[in-house]
Amino acid sequence: MPARASRRPGVTDPVLRLTAQAGAWAPAARRALAAAGVAPGWRCADLGCGPAGILDLLSRRVGRRGLVVGVEHDPHALLAALAAARGNVRLVPADVRRTGLPDASFDLVHARLVCQETGLLPLLREMRRLVRPGGVVLLAEPGADPWEVDPAPPDYARLVRRVTRRFLRRRSAIGSALPGRLRRAGLLGVRWRRDRLSLRGGHPYAAMPLFALAGARDVLLGSGAVTPARLRQLEAALGRAAADPAVRHRSFPLWHVWGRAPR
Ligand SMILES: C[S@@+](CC[C@H](N)C(=O)[O-])C[C@H]1O[C@@H](n2cnc3c(N)ncnc32)[C@H](O)[C@@H]1O
Repeated sequence: MPARASRRPGVTDPVLRLTAQAGAWAPAARRALAAAGVAPGWRCADLGCGPAGILDLLSRRVGRRGLVVGVEHDPHALLAALAAARGNVRLVPADVRRTGLPDASFDLVHARLVCQETGLLPLLREMRRLVRPGGVVLLAEPGADPWEVDPAPPDYARLVRRVTRRFLRRRSAIGSALPGRLRRAGLLGVRWRRDRLSLRGGHPYAAMPLFALAGARDVLLGSGAVTPARLRQLEAALGRAAADPAVRHRSFPLWHVWGRAPR
């Protein structure tokens, strides 16, 4: 993440940003876990859990007889996850593509918003290796529709289209492709949910477009899509939109897609 996107803590501190993100998507994740049949006593893995992921949701769902394993390679995220962990949660510092955990050892293997960094194939291969026969693989990734801000700052729509195209090129907005990819990976009974969040400025997650803009800063400036002065104005406007309760935000869609490993 570019270091000087903004002084707003939710934007500059990845642990705070990812914790706000996890909180915002918690209801959607809860619905997906229920629909996928995750039950008390299950052993679950959350790959690339970050500082929060869905560790707490899983922990409550599987209860004392269950187990939740979070895998993460970032030490700051791991420490934050550890500090919040309930008794049935274990944290493993590892690369999610090569966790070193035993074959077929989980009833559920979950990963959300991780593909952009690992690529889908290596992640899915490890998920398939870790899930027991009949167990569930659950992935959550964004779709291509952009984050909407209403009223939108001038230039927002044009630059968001640029950013979205870039993300599409990098194959990170792969939500709608996941059902096919899971079927091709041999998973059965593939199902999905697609959720979008409606937020007001002032919600900690309403700083997301500002963060996305910061991530795309070099590309936008390098391609001449925007001048540095214009970009600063847009950042300031998005900062105000993130804080102003009169501004409505509609998030990108998040696809939860799951299927069962053959028995
Ligand atoms: C966008 S965050 C999502 C965090 C969490 N899954 C959530 O949805 O709240 C991506 C996380 O994946 C982790 N990650 C990325 N590549 C990884 C890898 N190869 N091994 C372990 N963790 C990885 C990052 O450190 C980061 O915490």
